[in-house]
Amino acid sequence: TVSTSIPGYTYGQPEVAQSPISLEALAQLQETILWSEEDVRYLQMAGEVLADQVDEILDLWYGFVGSHPHLLHYFTGPDGQPIASYLERVRARFGQWILDTCRRPYDQAWLNYQHEIALRHHRTKKNQVDGVEAPPIIPLRYLIAFIVPITATIEPFLAKKGHSPEEVAKMHQAWFKSIVLQVTLWSYPYAREGDF
Ligand code: HEM
Repeated sequence: TVSTSIPGYTYGQPEVAQSPISLEALAQLQETILWSEEDVRYLQMAGEVLADQVDEILDLWYGFVGSHPHLLHYFTGPDGQPIASYLERVRARFGQWILDTCRRPYDQAWLNYQHEIALRHHRTKKNQVDGVEAPPIIPLRYLIAFIVPITATIEPFLAKKGHSPEEVAKMHQAWFKSIVLQVTLWSYPYAREGDF
């Protein structure tokens, strides 16, 4: 299901620029992370499992960010205080992203929005969508390191709907691959011209 009522969520809209990464380069990256049709199927399953748990997942992730001042920093204003409206608006888009990760075809529109998310973490576009004065960039090192909590914390949620341990493991593996793929795509604006 596509939600258009989320502020700043522009998936598939004409204002989203074309990704500088080609579909061919995407396919080669997918080969590199051992992506297969099985992963697509298990992510679909994960989407069904996670759909009614999105709020709980976000509570956990926001608890994690909120309890680490060096991470919460990127949501704070010039006075050093967290910007509640920024946290809230990003949270809604983050929730939609969980479902998009599981359900969307990884096609040109997906690739384009991947690039948009990349720019929104990078100084090119951070803070613009929500009109805030928070720090101008999420450092690349945290984007990469965040793969661990985003992957580790999803497993108990995948296991909550009575699937077999094998199914849970396959959903978890597919999730992990997708997060690595996405963070790889998000590193584009951080790399020097020609070095991605
Ligand atoms: C935005 C996911 C790492 C802080 C977002 C969005 C998603 C997301 C889905 C919203 C995209 C949209 O606008 O539609 C992730 C994932 C990460 C990651 C999967 C790593 C695996 C981090 C880290 C921080 C962070 C380490 C640092 C605290 C933010 C902020 C925004 C944002 C501040 C809002 C950016 C803006 O101004 O538009 N993230 N994120 N993210 N994320 Fe991350």
